[in-house]
Amino acid sequence: MINIAIDGPSGAGKSTVAKALAKELHYVYVDTGAMYRAIGVYVRGHGIDKNNADAVIAALPDIRVSLDYAEDGTQIVLLNGEDVSTVIRENEISLYASTVSKIPEVRARLLSLQREMAQTHNVIMDGRDIGTVVLPDAQLKVFMFASPEARADRRTKELLEKGQTVDYETILAEINARDEQDRTRSVSPAIPADDAVMLDNSGLDIDGTVGAIRDMLAERNLI
Ligand code: DC
Repeated sequence: MINIAIDGPSGAGKSTVAKALAKELHYVYVDTGAMYRAIGVYVRGHGIDKNNADAVIAALPDIRVSLDYAEDGTQIVLLNGEDVSTVIRENEISLYASTVSKIPEVRARLLSLQREMAQTHNVIMDGRDIGTVVLPDAQLKVFMFASPEARADRRTKELLEKGQTVDYETILAEINARDEQDRTRSVSPAIPADDAVMLDNSGLDIDGTVGAIRDMLAERNLI
């Protein structure tokens, strides 16, 4: 099986790029952030304090996260069998996901599902610890990043297009706070693997970023 790992901070465009590449290569796209978000949805929905690790761990036996795919390859995230693909994208859920993802038991719970997907399919998997922990033997590891300002700018435009009222400074502050939390946690921090290729896409659009990764795959004779 061919496994491609794409890691990097939030808002670097990982999922858009990984989705486009998966479609082009006919690989399965696995969005691991969506799995953490699904756990966040459960925690919020059950009134559990996200900062109370014991309470979150106690709830884990009642949480079943699974993935399904629509005909066009779109990933559908199921929480105890219910499609939560839309609610996981709520802004508030980002912080729930980032907070519960610090808990080792939560990570261990999702690791087996992630590895199983990669053992049975050619995958492009995006997340924070794919190259370092989940798929250390991936044939290509990319660490994709962009400056916080470039990411805040993209996110502001994206939300404005959706008709939401947004404030650039607030978004920038949220990005910096989440980066800090993801990067400094003790378990599986969001850092590049030693053998990852660093890709700064601050000045690239989606096509440019996809093209850069296509070149990396070609160099490795993977396409
Ligand atoms: O990629 P995302 O923004 O949907 O991820 C949501 C949160 O989940 C993010 O703040 C960090 C966490 N996460 C993680 O810890 N490990 C992963 N492999 C993917 C996401």
